[in-house]
Amino acid sequence: MKNSVKTTFASAFEEDVSKGLTTFPKYLYSKYIYDKKGDKLFQDIMALPEYYLTNCEYNILEKHTAEIADAFLGPDGFDLIELGAGDGKKTKVLLRHLVAQNTNFSYLPVDISLNVLEELNASLKEELPELQIKIQQGTYLKTLENLSNYGFRKKVIMMLGSNIGNLLHKDAIIFLKNIAGAMNAEDMLFMGFDQKKNPQTILDAYNDPTGVTEAFNKNLLVRINTELNGNFDIDNFLHWETYDPETGTARSFLVSKIDQKVIIENLNLEVHFEAWETIHTEISQKYDDSVVNWLAQEAGLKVVRTFTDSKKYYKNYIFKVL
Ligand code: AVI
Repeated sequence: MKNSVKTTFASAFEEDVSKGLTTFPKYLYSKYIYDKKGDKLFQDIMALPEYYLTNCEYNILEKHTAEIADAFLGPDGFDLIELGAGDGKKTKVLLRHLVAQNTNFSYLPVDISLNVLEELNASLKEELPELQIKIQQGTYLKTLENLSNYGFRKKVIMMLGSNIGNLLHKDAIIFLKNIAGAMNAEDMLFMGFDQKKNPQTILDAYNDPTGVTEAFNKNLLVRINTELNGNFDIDNFLHWETYDPETGTARSFLVSKIDQKVIIENLNLEVHFEAWETIHTEISQKYDDSVVNWLAQEAGLKVVRTFTDSKKYYKNYIFKVL
């Protein structure tokens, strides 16, 4: 195939894949892992014994339910806006408590996927029929913009799962700044941050022996094959994880095992891989208090409270605007 570089693209996915595979070193954005299959693989990851993040955060929410719920209370109640609601397993710990206490609040889960929101809505309607829930479909930032003047009372914005860790620090600051911009003085941000710990524990969490994380990472190539008419031979790549204990950055790669050419028809592109050449696919940043305080300061926020699990593997922070 002759490469005539494509300059107009049918989607952001096409454009990003084209850019990422024609630069050196090659990269693909981890956000594209999450199609239906990727979502399912991530659910499977969260159930892995090695992927301690989910259990740690669940334990924090269970151990400190009342304290966290009390911190959320406002004089006229509050609106709980959750960015990236997922299946709500962890959030339900808080919701059950708040409903049992007859708390005056409403729950506004935000997700890009209407399907996810409808499933969550149905399960909450059944489990907690008294809960006031208003699903919000859209991107986090667009929805926050719409909600910035929502209601008249305190807003609690919540993001669990250390999802912020998939952003480089500079992008995390921009993201936090956008959240801060939607917050009034009494509002709160409640967010989970995976902590620095024994490097082996972190490597194991991203390199499970059953290969679920490998399949999750390789879903990028599967998507390129199915959606962009690519011909990646998935077995010609291996999943590789690194962790730098100095910066706290875990990085995922796909490594080409052989010298090979891959054709992506919809991009009119032939990509050459040398043997052992890499595609960088994801970062999963690990934090400590000083880094979280620095990110907060840069974004116009301050930490007002923290909660951790018994092993101190994970922390949830409450932020207010400066
Ligand atoms: C969604 N995100 C916080 C996960 C993480 O830990 O970075 C995604 C993930 N990647 C591999 N395992 C899980």
